[in-house]
Amino acid sequence: MKTRFAPKGTWPGLAWAGLCLWLPLGMGPALASSPAEIAHAEYEEVMALTPDIDNGRKVYITCAVCHRPEGWGTPDGTYPQIAGQLRSVIIKQLADIRARNRDNPLMYPFSLPRILGGPQNVADVAAYLAQLPMNPQNGVGPGTDLELGARVYKENCVKCHGDQGLGDEQEHLPAIAGQHFNYLVRQFQAIRDGRRKNSDPKMVEQIKGFSPREELAVLDFTSRLRPPAERLGPPGWRNPDFQGYVYPPAPGMPPPEPGPAAPPAPPARP
Ligand code: HEC
Ligand code: HEC
Repeated sequence: MKTRFAPKGTWPGLAWAGLCLWLPLGMGPALASSPAEIAHAEYEEVMALTPDIDNGRKVYITCAVCHRPEGWGTPDGTYPQIAGQLRSVIIKQLADIRARNRDNPLMYPFSLPRILGGPQNVADVAAYLAQLPMNPQNGVGPGTDLELGARVYKENCVKCHGDQGLGDEQEHLPAIAGQHFNYLVRQFQAIRDGRRKNSDPKMVEQIKGFSPREELAVLDFTSRLRPPAERLGPPGWRNPDFQGYVYPPAPGMPPPEPGPAAPPAPPARP
C-alpha cells in the first residue's frame, strides 16, 4: 500500500498498517451497524434485565433537573412528562437517543453511558419512572375543536395508541394520554415531517393527509385523555424521594414560593 501519510519502514507507517488491519477486524462491524441497529440491540439487552427500582431512583437524580423530580416535565411542553410512561417505551427512547436514532441535542450528553450508565441503569431508571404517578394537570390545548379531535382520534389513532391513549407495552407504543399539549404538537410535527428518525412509518402514512385544523384538534383531544385515576398523583404532588430538592425555575412552572427571609446582616465592626 502506497500513501504519503504512511512512509514505509517508519513507526507511523507501522501504526497505519495496524490501523488498516484493526479497522475491518475490530471496528468494522460496529461501523457497519446503523444507529437504529445499535439502538435495537441495546433495547433487547435492557428488556431482558431485572430492574432495580431503588437504583433507578438514584440514576434519576441527573434527569430530575429537566424532567423535574416528579417526572412531570413542564406544562409548556419544553420537557415532556415521562412519569407513568410504559417501561418499554422509555427504554426504547433512551436507546434511540443515545445511539442518535432520535435527535435530542439537549439531553444527548446525559444519555451517554458516562453519565446515565450502562444497560442495567437504563433498565432501572425506566422501571422507576414507569411506576411514578402522573401529572393530573398537564398542559392542554385550547379546547375549541374537541368534537373534530375525537373523531380524528377514533379514525386514526385508536388502532395503535388505544382508545384511551395508553399505548402498548409489548409493542413499545407510547402512552400519549395526559402528555403536555405543546410536546405532543412538537413530536407530531417532527414525525410528520420526517425529522424524528425513530418514528413509525405506518403512523407517518396514517397522518400525512391531515389539515392543520385536524392536527391541532386531535392533539388537543389527546392531551385531555385522562389516564386511569389510580395512575394520577394529587395536584401539586412533590416526589418524597427527592426531599429537600431545590426546584430550579423552569419554563411554564409557577414561580417558586418565596423562601425564608434573608438572615440579618452581621453588625458592622466599629
Ligand atoms: C438537559 C435536560 C434533560 C436532561 C438532563 C434529561 N432530559 Fe430527557 N428529555 C429532554 C428533552 C428536552 C426531551 C424532549 C426532546 C424532544 O422534544 O424531542 C427529553 C425526552 C426524553 C424522553 C422521551 C419522552 C417521550 O415520550 O418521547 C425520555 C424517555 C427521557 N427524556 C428520559 C430521560 C432520562 C431517563 C434522563 C436522565 C438519564 C433524562 N431524560 C435527562 C431533556 C432532558
Ligand atoms: C400504525 C400505528 C400508529 C398510528 C396509526 C399512530 N401512531 Fe403515533 N406512534 C406510533 C409509534 C410506534 C410511535 C413511537 C415510535 C418510536 O419512537 O418508537 C408513535 C409515537 C407518537 C407520538 C410521540 C409520543 C412520544 O411520547 O414521543 C405521538 C404524539 C403520536 N404518536 C401521536 C399519534 C396520534 C395523535 C395519532 C393519530 C392521529 C397516531 N399517533 C397514530 C404508532 C402509531
